[in-house]
Amino acid sequence: MTQFTLHDAPLRPAEERASVLSDLGFGAQFSDRMAVADWTAADGWHDRRIVAYGPFELDPAAAVFHYAQEAFEGLKAYAHADGSIWRFRADVNAERFRRSCRRLGLPELSAADFLASVDELVAAERDWVPTGAEQSLYLRPFMFARSPILAVKPSTSVTYAVIASPSGAYFGGSGVAPVDIWFTRDYSRAAPGGTGFAKCGGNYAASMVAQQEAEANGCSQVGFVDAVEHRFVEELGGMNLFAVTSDGTVVTPELTDTILEGVTRSAVLQLARDAGLSVEERRLELTELVDGIDSGLFTEVFACGTAAIITPVGTLKDADGAHVVGDGRPGATTLALRQRLTDIQYGLAEDTHGWMHRI
Ligand code: COI
Repeated sequence: MTQFTLHDAPLRPAEERASVLSDLGFGAQFSDRMAVADWTAADGWHDRRIVAYGPFELDPAAAVFHYAQEAFEGLKAYAHADGSIWRFRADVNAERFRRSCRRLGLPELSAADFLASVDELVAAERDWVPTGAEQSLYLRPFMFARSPILAVKPSTSVTYAVIASPSGAYFGGSGVAPVDIWFTRDYSRAAPGGTGFAKCGGNYAASMVAQQEAEANGCSQVGFVDAVEHRFVEELGGMNLFAVTSDGTVVTPELTDTILEGVTRSAVLQLARDAGLSVEERRLELTELVDGIDSGLFTEVFACGTAAIITPVGTLKDADGAHVVGDGRPGATTLALRQRLTDIQYGLAEDTHGWMHRI
C-alpha cells in the first residue's frame, strides 16, 4: 500500500542522468526526488509525500540549528544483473533509527513508515540506481527538529526525509585499496550515558576536529578510544573497526552505549561465524592492537560500515608512530568477508540470512 503520495517533480533528462552516473564519488550527487513527512505534537505524523529534491524552508530559530536535535540513517539499494533493485537489512536500520530518535527526544517513526519511505522513493527513483562495480544508491533517512524556539526543550515540530545519492566507493578507487587510520587520544567521540550508540549528527560533529587531525597526519579516518580511561578501542569517525589474528580470529570492540551498532558490523560477525572463524566481541586495548600489529599477532585490520562496506586498513598511526598492518596490503580474511558480503548484496551469492528485500 502506498503511504507516500507521489507529487509531480521536474526530472532531469536521461542524458543528464547518464552523465551524472558516469562519474560517481560518494554522497555528492542526488536523485530528482525525496521522501518527506512532517510531525507535530498535536497531529502526529502527516503529509507523507515524495516531492522534488530541493531545499527546506526553515526558520533561523529552528531547534536543529542551535541544539542539533537530529538523527539519521544510512542504507543502500543495489541493482542486480537482471535489473531488479534490492535493499539490505533495512528493517535493522528502521529499528536503530527508532532508538536514535528516542535518545534525541525526537518522535519515533514506525518501521512501516521508514520502510515505505525507502521503498517508495527507490521505486520512483529506480533509474538512479547505478550499475557499476562498487556502486549503489545510498539512502539517507533523517529527522530534524524545526520548532522556532531557543528554549532548550524537545521540538514539537519535526520533519523526516529520505534523500538518495547514487554513489561509488566511500574512499574512492576500487574500494579495496587500504586506507590509513589515525588514533587520537586528544579527542573523545562519546561518553557513557551520552549519544554514542545513537546515529545523530552530534556524534559526527564531535569527530570533525579529530578527523582534521587524522588528515593532517596523512590518514583518511580517525579512530577513537573510550572517553573514561582513554585505553579501549571504540570506533572510527564514520565506521566500526575489526582486527584479525594470525590464526584467523576476528576481533571487534564489544558494544557499549558509546559505540554505534553497525548494520554491516553485525553482518560481518555473522559471515565470519558462517565461515567457521572464531569471533570475539570484547574490550580491545589500543596498546594490545598496536603491539599485536607490530608483533604479527594481528595480521589484518579493517573498517566496516554501510558506506565503507569493508575497507582494509594498511597502516594504523598514533602519536607513537606508524604501525603497518601485515604487509600493508589487504588480508585474505578481509577480502573473503568483503567478497561474501558484496556477493550477497549484489545478488551473486545465496542470501541465506534473508537480508535482501526486493523493491
Ligand atoms: C554509513 O556508513 O552509512 C554512515 O552513515 C557513515 C558515514 C557516511 C557517516
